[in-house]
Amino acid sequence: MAISWRTDVNTRSQRDCFVTVFLALTTLGFTGSYAHADTLDTRGMAPHEQCAYCHGLDGNSAMPRFPRLAGQSASYLRKQLADFKRGRRTNDEGAMSGIADALSDAEAEKIVIHYAAQPLRAGSPDIEGDAAAGRRLYFNGRRAIAACATCHGTDAPVLAGAPRLLGQHGAYLAKQLQDFRRGARRNDAGGVMHRIAKALEEPEVRALSAFLAAAPVMTGASR
Ligand code: HEC
Ligand code: HEC
Repeated sequence: MAISWRTDVNTRSQRDCFVTVFLALTTLGFTGSYAHADTLDTRGMAPHEQCAYCHGLDGNSAMPRFPRLAGQSASYLRKQLADFKRGRRTNDEGAMSGIADALSDAEAEKIVIHYAAQPLRAGSPDIEGDAAAGRRLYFNGRRAIAACATCHGTDAPVLAGAPRLLGQHGAYLAKQLQDFRRGARRNDAGGVMHRIAKALEEPEVRALSAFLAAAPVMTGASR
């Protein structure tokens, strides 16, 4: 659907209006062509503002299918953008591949540094599941599944390259586990997440996602 989408978002009210219309469109599922970075007039905007329509200005996105980028490490964010570009990660409407493709390296660098420096705000549950069972799995694992915390950590990831999961939207996390399982996402070194996602039962995916979405960003002491 080709609709010209040139808007000067110079004033606050114009920008708020733009965001409202954009979010209404994304809710209706019209993301594809609108989201493509080259359909936005980005002159005068800080590079991360083009991401804000979905991920929020401070990276604390409101809608569960748009991951929260706040406080995620710059190296993890940088790698994901490269992986979208190379097609090792995909998403339903392909929005992120087009967006990542249109970014210059200098813009991408400014954006990842911006989002990595933003504080993650408390999350809220957005998915039904047994959060107590999810918490146990996260910290203790079970037979054939290593504890998630050994790599993903508590207040910060332990393994370099692993993202922080605490406080992320549950629906987004559940989708990533499905994508790892069916091979739509295949950017995990050594297939580590593919194996784990394959071993998880569906109620366990919901339990983990429910726990993580509502978990405050914890310190080791609160385990
Ligand atoms: C139209 C909405 C939209 C816009 C605009 C958008 N994104 Fe995304 N982004 C998404 C969606 C949807 C996903 C999740 C894809 C999936 O399901 O795997 C995502 C995922 C990501 C991820 C992966 C996060 C993680 O935890 O692995 C990064 C990094 C990211 N986006 C960065 C950006 C940057 C940088 C911009 C701006 C240049 C941007 N996005 C603009 C929709 C958007
Ligand atoms: C041996 C280390 C390791 C273990 C154990 C592990 N993970 Fe991961 N996980 C990773 C790495 C590394 C990545 C990042 C892959 C990439 O480069 O995109 C990742 C990515 C993820 C993502 C994608 C997050 C996002 O923002 O897109 C989810 C969801 C996830 N892991 C869930 C889990 C769960 C749930 C468990 C426990 C059942 C677990 N992981 C155990 C290493 C691990």
